[in-house]
Amino acid sequence: MLGSGSMGGAIIDGLLSDGFQPDQITVTTQSEGSAAKWRAKKVISLAAETEPTANASAVTGANLVLVAVKPAYVVQVLKEAAENLLPDALIISVAAGITTAAMEAVVPESVSVIRAMPNTPSVIGLGMTGIAAGSRASAAALDVAEQLFGKVGKTLVLPENQIDALSTISGSGPAYVFYLVEQLVEASENLGFDKQTATLLVAETFRGASEYLVASGREAAELRAQVTSPNGTTMRAIAELEKLELAKGFEIALNAALTRARELAAG
Ligand SMILES: NC(=O)c1ccc[n+]([C@@H]2O[C@H](COP(=O)([O-])OP(=O)(O)OC[C@H]3O[C@@H](n4cnc5c(N)ncnc54)[C@H](OP(=O)(O)O)[C@@H]3O)[C@@H](O)[C@H]2O)c1
Repeated sequence: MLGSGSMGGAIIDGLLSDGFQPDQITVTTQSEGSAAKWRAKKVISLAAETEPTANASAVTGANLVLVAVKPAYVVQVLKEAAENLLPDALIISVAAGITTAAMEAVVPESVSVIRAMPNTPSVIGLGMTGIAAGSRASAAALDVAEQLFGKVGKTLVLPENQIDALSTISGSGPAYVFYLVEQLVEASENLGFDKQTATLLVAETFRGASEYLVASGREAAELRAQVTSPNGTTMRAIAELEKLELAKGFEIALNAALTRARELAAG
């Protein structure tokens, strides 16, 4: 794994809890400090600041190469690694905005590339990852990517031209949920609850409602109707929320995120 910070770390934790041995995995980091943290977990780690050839050394003999550096460094680390890649290596990048074509251009033609867009709940095995094949990736390669991200949550294979749209929903989505939680906590504090109690009430309500939605297989509108008695308190609250036109707000927000994703991809 080239670059192994928060997202890379979540994937490795998923692999380790699935029975992978730490010494089956080699990671690179920029700093020696980050590499030392991996070494403490018995994962083989090389820091670019102390070993300029770290990224090239790490991919030597690897069938699967995960790229989890920040988008700005993806092409650079792949160029560093290119000569040492196995001819049939599979590269899976989680970097936002960097296309498979941009990556394919800097690695040997026999190497295939896949793009994945996970999200932070992957850290606790509840991630949602979009997966898109590059022009040279086979069905078997896609299968490897699905199995890998399946260890840290659910997966969805989709065409690459939809992956930026997916990133505005499930990639950025945890931030929208945290934002809604913050707002509801603030409103709860105004009703006299301290922050800790308000956070407990709100977080458990979000968790319970989300799990109920998924477990029941029913539509959100149906479950909402179940808690909304005619002329009751919830109905009065929902009537106020409807005035805020949240669907329109989310549409604007998703379009803004999509525009930004395209700006980032264009460099
Ligand atoms: N976080 C998310 O929710 C999320 C979701 C989907 C996709 N992603 C994608 O995941 C990628 C990583 O994001 P992140 O949040 O995990 O970032 P991060 O925590 O900053 O991790 C970046 C990692 O790259 C290492 N690094 C930097 N330069 C390097 C180099 N030249 N060679 C080798 N390693 C190098 C860093 O090492 P040091 O620790 O020493 O600095 C660190 O381990 C991004 O491309 C992002 O688009 C993130």
